[in-house]
Amino acid sequence: MNLTIDERRLADEIETLATFSDAEAPAVTRVVFTPTERKARAWVKDRCKSAGLILRDDAIGNTFARWEGTRRNAPAVGTGSHIDAIPNAGKYDGVVGVLGGLEAIRALQRSEFLPKHAIELLIFACEEPTRFGIGCLGSRVLSGTLSPDAAKKLTDSDGRTVDQVRRSAGLEGELEDVKLPSGYYKAFVELHIEQGPILERENKPLGVVENIAAPASLRLTIEGSGGHAGGTLMPDRRDALCAAAELILALEAAAKSSGAIDTVATVGICDVFPGAVNSIPARVRLSADIRDTSLERRDGVMRALDQACEATSGKRKVDVHKELWNADAPAQSSAEIVAALSEACSNHNFPCLRMTSRAYHDSLFMSRLAPVAMLFIPSKNGYSHRPDEYSSPEDIARGALVLAETLAALAK
Ligand code: GLV
Ligand code: MN
Ligand code: MN
Repeated sequence: MNLTIDERRLADEIETLATFSDAEAPAVTRVVFTPTERKARAWVKDRCKSAGLILRDDAIGNTFARWEGTRRNAPAVGTGSHIDAIPNAGKYDGVVGVLGGLEAIRALQRSEFLPKHAIELLIFACEEPTRFGIGCLGSRVLSGTLSPDAAKKLTDSDGRTVDQVRRSAGLEGELEDVKLPSGYYKAFVELHIEQGPILERENKPLGVVENIAAPASLRLTIEGSGGHAGGTLMPDRRDALCAAAELILALEAAAKSSGAIDTVATVGICDVFPGAVNSIPARVRLSADIRDTSLERRDGVMRALDQACEATSGKRKVDVHKELWNADAPAQSSAEIVAALSEACSNHNFPCLRMTSRAYHDSLFMSRLAPVAMLFIPSKNGYSHRPDEYSSPEDIARGALVLAETLAALAK
């Protein structure tokens, strides 16, 4: 099989997709179901159509672009990722797996490979948690991890439900019909940027992911008492932001003291009410994101946060209310797909590293439906979720080539 990746075209497509953005370049903001995200998705679908793929959208907005196999009823081999982007993001997160996956399929077509199993490119809906609080909404519902009823209860910051938002974006059908039967996919393999520093540090161009860490996220609402920043004496205060600061540091301390490099915890949102320079914060909303490859350690950090909430609430006389958004189990890659990826790397003498994904991905939820594995390419300085996220065209093309060869091995 003579596989060649059109590196220039793939790089140009990534640049073009980055122009569909609600932030000023080089930043990319592309929140799910916004007009910008819909236009970007239409553009990608158009590229898929030009490659002769058959398109379908499900009711939650996952897009399937299918290259039919010669064995019509055989389970498909899936690949793909997401094109939504958090506020102030870069160009590559998710995009490399979508456009790299498309280029892998085009490379296979050019080589005149004929798949027995259909190869399906997925462009998942709502991988990022920006709009509805939890990530991977499309793959959660697709894999049956999240029930349609639970999905319907999610709202965005304007109080609009998933159903309202998706229907106004033109998506028809019922969420009950999104879940795919187990056995629909023979395998699912996702190409993604590493979003961490390890490949670069180890000087390896490729990473084969063996497991994906378990993510959890929650919201804390801290209710204190507001008032005048001059008139209210210090002993009389119940400052919600001071209480929140204690909780943020307690969470950091719990993650640092876990004893494992895989334990990470982040507070990424802090909304202060009323938010005036001369007013004592009366209410604070925090988001907390906690991850680990070990469920036991991750849950230990969550318990430490609960204890800190209780202690701070008593000490500072504030109310702390917790809403758990998600607490997911980790995923293990399929040994067969890991072997196929590793073999494709060694066929080209590309060194590769077996590694853990500490970021979550749609593959985490696809693992509930099918055997999965992921292929990572280096991220410059380990940066991701920021405008200077960067992976070189050569690294992206190398990833697409290994993906193409792996898809061929799985679909033959
Ligand atoms: C995905 O974007 C993640 O936060 O891991
Ligand atoms: Mn992301
Ligand atoms: Mn991603």
